[in-house]
Amino acid sequence: MNPLQGLPLLEDLPELNAKRVLVRVDFNVPLHIGIDGRATVADDFRILAALPTLRWLQDQGADVVASSHLGRPPNAPDPRWEMDPVRDRLQTLCPGIELSENLRFNPGEKKNDPTFVASLIEGFDAYVNEAFGVSHRSHASIVGPPHFLPSAAGLRLAKEVEVLGGLLEAPARPFVAVVGGAKVADKLDVLKVLATKVDTLAVGGGMAFTFLAARGQRVGSSLLDEEHLDDCRALLDSGTEILLPTDVRALEPGGSFGPPGAGVGPRGGVKVVEGDLTDGWTGLDIGPETSAAFADAVHRAGTVLWNGPLGAFEDKRFAGGTRVVAEAVADSLAFTVVGGGDSASALDLLGLSDKVDFLSTGGGASLTFIERGGNLPALEALRQAPNAPR
Ligand code: 3PG
Ligand code: MG
Repeated sequence: MNPLQGLPLLEDLPELNAKRVLVRVDFNVPLHIGIDGRATVADDFRILAALPTLRWLQDQGADVVASSHLGRPPNAPDPRWEMDPVRDRLQTLCPGIELSENLRFNPGEKKNDPTFVASLIEGFDAYVNEAFGVSHRSHASIVGPPHFLPSAAGLRLAKEVEVLGGLLEAPARPFVAVVGGAKVADKLDVLKVLATKVDTLAVGGGMAFTFLAARGQRVGSSLLDEEHLDDCRALLDSGTEILLPTDVRALEPGGSFGPPGAGVGPRGGVKVVEGDLTDGWTGLDIGPETSAAFADAVHRAGTVLWNGPLGAFEDKRFAGGTRVVAEAVADSLAFTVVGGGDSASALDLLGLSDKVDFLSTGGGASLTFIERGGNLPALEALRQAPNAPR
């Protein structure tokens, strides 16, 4: 099935000249606080991604109001999460677009309160969702407006659905997924789906230790989620090729890790260990042999999906695995897709962001999209809009 099936697109909107259009964007961007205490946008990737849609609407003669959340304020106004720095950046990039105040200042946003939905759409003639990053949330501004207004997926949202949906439908083979991150519980659902889609699943990051333990290996003081050992065992028995670390970079007992300057910071001896880890040693990165094996799988792939860092890369001593994999993804001739969040930051840090074919604007959203076989609350809502193609 075409992943865009049934989704109303911009051209499915009625005439927009002199009409008011509400655009839900995901301008939840990292901020930088200067020495004068002033906040500025530290990374405008998500703003840039929405510009083609905003400009297209302006070109149709529409009066455009964008609306976003920023951070996780306590469901009430909070000066730390006001939209001003984002508004400044948007004004520079695309003058003439109004940006309303943080949607999460109102408790009705997360509760999907009908009264809040009514207040959001008041005075608008059409709605556009250009907020892929938050499309996995059933929040008022995401699922509400399509019930009442002619609606459309923005250009970038549609592209996300097309690319990520394409991975689920007909990927060029071999299809290799590299998945990292700390917590196995967060990734189990997506791993279960990926195991049915990919040829090879390479697992690194903190979550790999529960897999290693499930295979009977000793993991020392590394992250271990005892509750999910059985799930990991089931995945290992699923028949899909699963690459696990054969060596890890480990921190000695009593050592500490983290970015320099934060808390106790990086301290203690580090060594590469093959196989069992003895008590007190903590595995914090994949080792050189594993990095080479993962990179090799990436080089041989037709399609690569990468999500999550392979080690505690904020500490330079444990950044090697993530760097080697990022470089392999950047070099690979495969069609390469990187999930947002930490893997996007890692690519950015290494200056490799423009070397991948598709960098998703959503971290949690891209994983949920895959978990649900291509569906998300936002897409369901758009497909029910009055103007959706039937
Ligand atoms: C994100 O940055 O992942 C999205 O904007 C969603 O934010 P949330 O996780 O706070 O809902
Ligand atoms: Mg998130």
